[in-house]
Amino acid sequence: MHKKIFCGFFVTLAGFLIIVTAWNVHSHVLDPNYSTEILRRLISVEEFNRSKQGAKLFCWVGTHEPNFDKAINVFNLWGSKFDKIIFVVNTDSFGVLPFVRFPLQETRDNLWHKTVFAFRHIYENYLDEFDWFMKADDDTFIVVDNLITFLSGYNYNKSYVFGREFVQNGVTFPSGGSGYVFSRGALKQFMKGFDENCGDFEGILEDVNIGICLSKLGMELTDTRDSLGRFRFNPLSARDHLFTRRGYNPQWIYDIEKYEMREEQYCCASDVITFHYMGIEESIEFANILEKDPKNQFIPTKFD
Ligand SMILES: *[C@@H]1O[C@H](CO)[C@@H](O)[C@H](O)[C@H]1NC(C)=O
Ligand SMILES: *[C@@H]1O[C@H](CO)[C@@H](O)[C@H](O)[C@H]1NC(C)=O
Ligand SMILES: *[C@@H]1O[C@H](CO)[C@@H](O)[C@H](O)[C@H]1NC(C)=O
Repeated sequence: MHKKIFCGFFVTLAGFLIIVTAWNVHSHVLDPNYSTEILRRLISVEEFNRSKQGAKLFCWVGTHEPNFDKAINVFNLWGSKFDKIIFVVNTDSFGVLPFVRFPLQETRDNLWHKTVFAFRHIYENYLDEFDWFMKADDDTFIVVDNLITFLSGYNYNKSYVFGREFVQNGVTFPSGGSGYVFSRGALKQFMKGFDENCGDFEGILEDVNIGICLSKLGMELTDTRDSLGRFRFNPLSARDHLFTRRGYNPQWIYDIEKYEMREEQYCCASDVITFHYMGIEESIEFANILEKDPKNQFIPTKFD
């Protein structure tokens, strides 16, 4: 009995590794021009002007102690542009980084508890001090300037949840790795109804649970695509979205999208907000490209 389970596990793991490897090989083959003009023309950064709105942005990043180097990278590249960022991690000391100690073990089974712990902590300590509350992973890349500009179009006192919308079993939920944002109004509504409606959730997929809870509370995600249907919140890396043709990205993403998946130059809004699976190297490369042009000159000129 145990043998069967173990065997099945390894076969699944092996299959998974083959898929992941094949996917990486393909994306490397397809993106020889990654750090060149192509990307520079596709993605822009709105001119950063915080005084436009004055709203205050909070971010929490779920990480693990061994990922300290990723966390430092996140903090240096984009994290410090938030008005406040905290890493949520089960440790008593996390170098120079601001963190709050997650009291349970860092297992997959506890991911949901970690998310609930973080939002409860934020609700109890920071609700009145900040206006927007974002969740990210330590391999998410956030273009904070574009996030600020995007949010300035919405009133944080109202209830908004923004992210990449996935659908599973009829439930819409925000992709965890793409990051998602609650307005102050939404966080209030969510946490007020949480214990009664969602306190007994058992599933381990934190983003799916967030979606189920939102729907129980009668809350909806707001579409964050641009007027051309291109996505601002993105569940794969910049490389995979921008340079990988249909069929080369993993199938699950096509199956789970709420809206039609788009590739290459059609994938992402020029004022893109997030990418996921951004390793340290790719994050640095991407940040350097953005840095070179903070003045918004790379808006795509032609999309047929
Ligand atoms: C980049 O793309 C151009 C045009 O598609 C191609 O001619 C060139 O060989 C590519 N560069 C590399 C390093 O592959
Ligand atoms: C930022 O916005 C303020 C207020 O609208 C304006 O006075 C200022 O010139 C802007 N700064 C830049 C760099 O555009
Ligand atoms: C949000 O509500 C607070 C408290 O009622 C108020 O001071 C603030 O001006 C409101 N902000 C916006 C953008 O409506």
